[in-house]
Amino acid sequence: MAEPRKLTPAEEARLAQVRDQFKQKQAISNSLNSIKYRIGVYSGKGGVGKTTVTTNLALTLAKHGRKVAILDCDIDCPNVTRVLRISERPGADNEGKMIPPSKHGVSVMSMGFFQENEDEAIVWRGPMIHNAINQFISKTNWGDIDYLICDLPPGTSDAPLTVMQTLNLDGFIVVSTPQELAALDAKRSINMIKKLNLKVFGVVENMTGGIFGKGAAIEMAEELELPVLSEISLLSDYSDSFDPVVHTNDTSEKEFERLMKNLDSITSQL
Ligand SMILES: Nc1ncnc2c1ncn2[C@@H]1O[C@H](COP(=O)(O)OP(=O)(O)OP(=O)(O)O)[C@@H](O)[C@H]1O
Ligand SMILES: [Mg+2]
Repeated sequence: MAEPRKLTPAEEARLAQVRDQFKQKQAISNSLNSIKYRIGVYSGKGGVGKTTVTTNLALTLAKHGRKVAILDCDIDCPNVTRVLRISERPGADNEGKMIPPSKHGVSVMSMGFFQENEDEAIVWRGPMIHNAINQFISKTNWGDIDYLICDLPPGTSDAPLTVMQTLNLDGFIVVSTPQELAALDAKRSINMIKKLNLKVFGVVENMTGGIFGKGAAIEMAEELELPVLSEISLLSDYSDSFDPVVHTNDTSEKEFERLMKNLDSITSQL
């Protein structure tokens, strides 16, 4: 029998690369195994309330007995830790995996933990973002989790796209404000999600009422035949309050309970 041909160094290197990628994929899928549902919170436009919706939804789910974790995927501006006022860093289990710190019953993993100081902007390119997200997921011991809520970066650039593809999310909550322009951006994001063959669970109209008016996001949802998962009122508490708003304001509590119930009924059909 002829000896198998020796691989060239380039072939060896390629083989090692494929093996590494396979190992990482396996590590990610092992790590995600203990999570029932993975939900993305997304919008095309910045500042419409993704982080606010992520944190208050997670707090509401936790208050109602669900096991919840947040993955802050906004690598450039991770601010979930700031909003929840978490200063503790992740711990480590005996296999060297990271254990996310938790606050009000919500576990949080964020790039914010690895920043030297809060003002530092992290300017990373696609492949580095891909790596950071992969590391987060595969090196975190999430424990048994019902819902992993992922706070995504805004826009339709490299960063959110990479995150969406890596995380294999079950579906998205798209956040928009009641202005026409924001709703138009949200529509674009919804089309992008659909192009990636991923699911949009529905739309949240945030900052509704008051100076921003009402309804553009709801009309957009109707036009695209998507459910309106909740309407979150514009309240000064969100910027001023030290404690989580869903813990202190009845209106906010009810609005986020509506979001939770709608999410529950969608995921129960997955
Ligand atoms: N319903 C609301 N009422 C009043 N203020 C709100 C409401 N929702 C969010 N805010 C405030 O608006 C600002 C932007 O919200 P947030 O950070 O959640 O948006 P974002 O979409 O995550 O932004 P980015 O795109 O920068 O990540 C914050 O100061 C937040 O406190
Ligand atoms: Mg945000």
